[in-house]
Amino acid sequence: MREKMWIFHCVYDTKCIFSVWTHWCLYYAAIVCLLFAPVRTNDACPWSCICATESGTVTCRDGGDTEVPGDVPKWTSTMIIKGRNISTLRRDAFATNGSELQIVTLSLSHNGIRAIEPYAFLGLPRLHLLDLSHNRLDSISDRAFHALPELRSLHLNYSVSPLATAQLSDALSAQSLRNLHRLELAGNGLKTIPLMTLDIYNLYALVLVNNSIETLGRENVTNLYQQGRVRVYLSLNPFRCNCDLVAFYYWLKNSSQCPDAGRLECSEPDTKRGSPVEKLRVEDVDCTTENLEAVSYVFLGIVLALIGVVFLMVLYLNRGGIKRWLNNIREACRDQMEVYHYRYEQDSDPRLANVAV
Ligand SMILES: *[C@@H]1O[C@H](CO)[C@@H](O)[C@H](O)[C@H]1NC(C)=O
Ligand SMILES: *[C@@H]1O[C@H](CO)[C@@H](O)[C@H](O)[C@H]1NC(C)=O
Ligand SMILES: *[C@@H]1O[C@H](CO)[C@@H](O)[C@H](O)[C@H]1NC(C)=O
Ligand SMILES: *[C@@H]1O[C@H](CO)[C@@H](O)[C@H](O)[C@H]1NC(C)=O
Ligand SMILES: *[C@@H]1O[C@H](CO)[C@@H](O)[C@H](O)[C@H]1NC(C)=O
Ligand SMILES: *[C@@H]1O[C@H](CO)[C@@H](O)[C@H](O)[C@H]1NC(C)=O
Repeated sequence: MREKMWIFHCVYDTKCIFSVWTHWCLYYAAIVCLLFAPVRTNDACPWSCICATESGTVTCRDGGDTEVPGDVPKWTSTMIIKGRNISTLRRDAFATNGSELQIVTLSLSHNGIRAIEPYAFLGLPRLHLLDLSHNRLDSISDRAFHALPELRSLHLNYSVSPLATAQLSDALSAQSLRNLHRLELAGNGLKTIPLMTLDIYNLYALVLVNNSIETLGRENVTNLYQQGRVRVYLSLNPFRCNCDLVAFYYWLKNSSQCPDAGRLECSEPDTKRGSPVEKLRVEDVDCTTENLEAVSYVFLGIVLALIGVVFLMVLYLNRGGIKRWLNNIREACRDQMEVYHYRYEQDSDPRLANVAV
């Protein structure tokens, strides 16, 4: 109203009119800029990537790039980078100009990634699933997975080289992974569960298929019992079916925490190679029963020896009585013999008797 009045007031003043129109033009220009500028950057698809705006997916395949695209559009919710030679995931690799991205799913499989620097995933506060499978990690910073409060699934299958397994364990103890529901670690040659403890996590699934786990000790089994909701997948591991397996064997039998329990096989000893762990007999793994048997045999031996000693003692202490008894027997025998002898003489040839007489 006031402006209209103002225009009306300077109707005959051309200078005045000009100034008003410039004012309006600038005003509209600003609005147009505000409306369209962000839209233009939003639409920009990174070079050599394919963008599907409706689904919020950016897919970058193959190509010579050795870095993560720096200009990820703001609307991206799923980002797939595959078949590139990335080698190192740098600090802030996704934090474009320090701004946050709303990516929910990030797949970085098959990129030949060898190293993850600290805070590589900074600026991804909504990341839910991170897939780093099929890379060649030999260096993982213990702060690699920091600042991922919403992460629920972490896939690291066929990705961790033996050099990095110790580092993996440190990296996985990050505070920001405590909401993790699913951890996939298939095919990494692991010999133990690379988690110090389970109670800091909120895990529902731990996939350790096709590793090098020979046994899970009592400590691990206790930990698993305590975290009753977690399911552990363990097929294709070379289990050593001896007495070290006992705690694990009972856990398999009476918890239902191993969904692929039926597919676990022994690889040692040779006599049990290929036989299902679940089908083992208690005696095969439970050495306490074996020990009990051994103990009972020893006990029986001792008892028998004691009886023997007591018997000998009795004999020794009674040696006088025994002597007398033996003498009695001997005398009895002699009497008998004499009687016999006498009878013999009486019954012998009468002619000889006559001669004697
Ligand atoms: C990947 O990049 C590194 C250097 O960043 C290079 O040494 C290596 O040869 C590359 N590998 C392939 C398969 O392109
Ligand atoms: C990031 O900063 C560069 C210049 O520093 C600018 O050209 C680019 O548009 C910025 N990108 C975003 C997404 O803000
Ligand atoms: C490994 O990771 C892939 C995703 O890259 C997933 O689909 C698969 O189920 C995982 N598990 C195994 C055992 O390969
Ligand atoms: C198990 O992992 C090895 C390499 O670690 C791989 O060659 C093999 O194909 C895998 N087996 C299965 C059944 O996935
Ligand atoms: C499992 O056992 C290994 C070796 O005994 C130990 O280093 C690791 O912390 C244990 N992990 C869990 C989760 O119990
Ligand atoms: C599992 O089985 C063993 C042997 O049958 C038994 O001693 C034990 O109490 C059972 N339960 C648990 C929780 O270990």
